[in-house]
Amino acid sequence: MTVLFEKTTINGLELKNRLVRSATNEEMADKNGFPTDKHFKCYERLANGGVGLIITGLAAVSKDGRVSPGMHCIFSDDSIEKYRELTDHVHKHGAKIAMQIAHGGRQTTQRLIGTKSIAPSPVKDKSSFTVPREMTEDDIERVIEDFAQGARRAKESGFDAIQLHGAHGYLINQFLCPYTNRRVDKWGGSVENRVRFLTEIHKRIRELVGNDYPILIKMNAYDKVKGGLTIEEATIHAQMMEEMGIDGIEVSCGIAEDGLSTIRGDFPIDAIIEDVGMFRKQPVMRFIMKHFGKMIMKPTPFTEQFNLEAAKTIKDKVKIPIFTVGGNINPADMKKLIENGDADYISLCRSLIIEPNFPRLIEEGRTEPSRCIHCNLCLFYLQLGPLRCYRGKRIDSKANDII
Ligand SMILES: Cc1cc2nc3c(=O)[nH]c(=O)nc-3n(C[C@H](O)[C@H](O)[C@H](O)COP(=O)(O)O)c2cc1C
Ligand code: SF4
Repeated sequence: MTVLFEKTTINGLELKNRLVRSATNEEMADKNGFPTDKHFKCYERLANGGVGLIITGLAAVSKDGRVSPGMHCIFSDDSIEKYRELTDHVHKHGAKIAMQIAHGGRQTTQRLIGTKSIAPSPVKDKSSFTVPREMTEDDIERVIEDFAQGARRAKESGFDAIQLHGAHGYLINQFLCPYTNRRVDKWGGSVENRVRFLTEIHKRIRELVGNDYPILIKMNAYDKVKGGLTIEEATIHAQMMEEMGIDGIEVSCGIAEDGLSTIRGDFPIDAIIEDVGMFRKQPVMRFIMKHFGKMIMKPTPFTEQFNLEAAKTIKDKVKIPIFTVGGNINPADMKKLIENGDADYISLCRSLIIEPNFPRLIEEGRTEPSRCIHCNLCLFYLQLGPLRCYRGKRIDSKANDII
């Protein structure tokens, strides 16, 4: 029988237990996208808290792949020294660390990246209100190389693995998903064509990092947009990922415009409008969103273990390790799902924002669920400052203070 607290290995990487910190944008990087002392403290707390593997917040592989000003960036060799410090901090405390590498594609703004956003097809992103430019063959080749160089830098910085961000509506997912990929060339159309971008990224990364370096992926099992990805097709993606040589799959869901299905829970509209200041310069939109925002966004209610069924479906079809993420808050259920063999690893995001030492407490016998109430302020307040839990609090943005 498999148990939650036991040693395992993924392509030679030894992990002390089956608990993982899922990628969480900390918004703590400096203006170059390099890690800061805030990161070191945050990651030391996580490592001390007993989690086996920490996955970083998403790291942009190129300038036009950025999605926020304080995210990690791994597009310059100058970042290697600072990232080496970060991995040292984690290793000192007995945990392992993977870097999540990503390109935002259409889920960003021209204001942030300085150029028009790029995507497989010019399909408007309803979350950022941008229409991207369709990628040329040269763009595609360039971004494949950017992913590969990002992975090489991560390995040289001491990361124990990389995780490709293939989920949540970012660029790899945009190629995989028929709603965002309307191409009629070799990069679109059939499933094989839509997976080609990922296949080429993986192939080129392997050339640079070798076969004995763990390459993981976070993928979407489905999204909630018309014409989007279904679990049936995602299962085929997973089988193709295994075939190409990917070492483990984290099963997630959702894209930015589909009503928070990735995280679920509250859509804190008052905080978004009053504190974050969204629509400040668009009084009509502000009025509409304030009064009808929840109706328009149709936020998905929180439920426990909300991606487990999808993870089980995919696990049935592949032999590589499966990570389940989303709504893992209850220690007894976590133990049971591992013992049942429903998934191989359990990833936690918000449970570790509110209590970075949750894994250690569970190991010591904690039975109460996570204290997280899914208010989602931690996500929306990333636009005002670094990651933290705001349970029961608000930011007074005029006074720049937490109340
Ligand atoms: C503040 C915040 C930041 C996040 N940043 C990322 C990220 O950088 N990359 C990613 O793949 N998912 C990100 N996610 C999604 C989480 O990794 C996870 O898939 C989701 O929150 C569901 O897990 P949970 O119920 O344990 O929170 C983020 C979620 C939150 C709340
Ligand atoms: S702010 Fe805290 S309580 Fe609210 S969702 Fe984030 S971690 Fe959970």
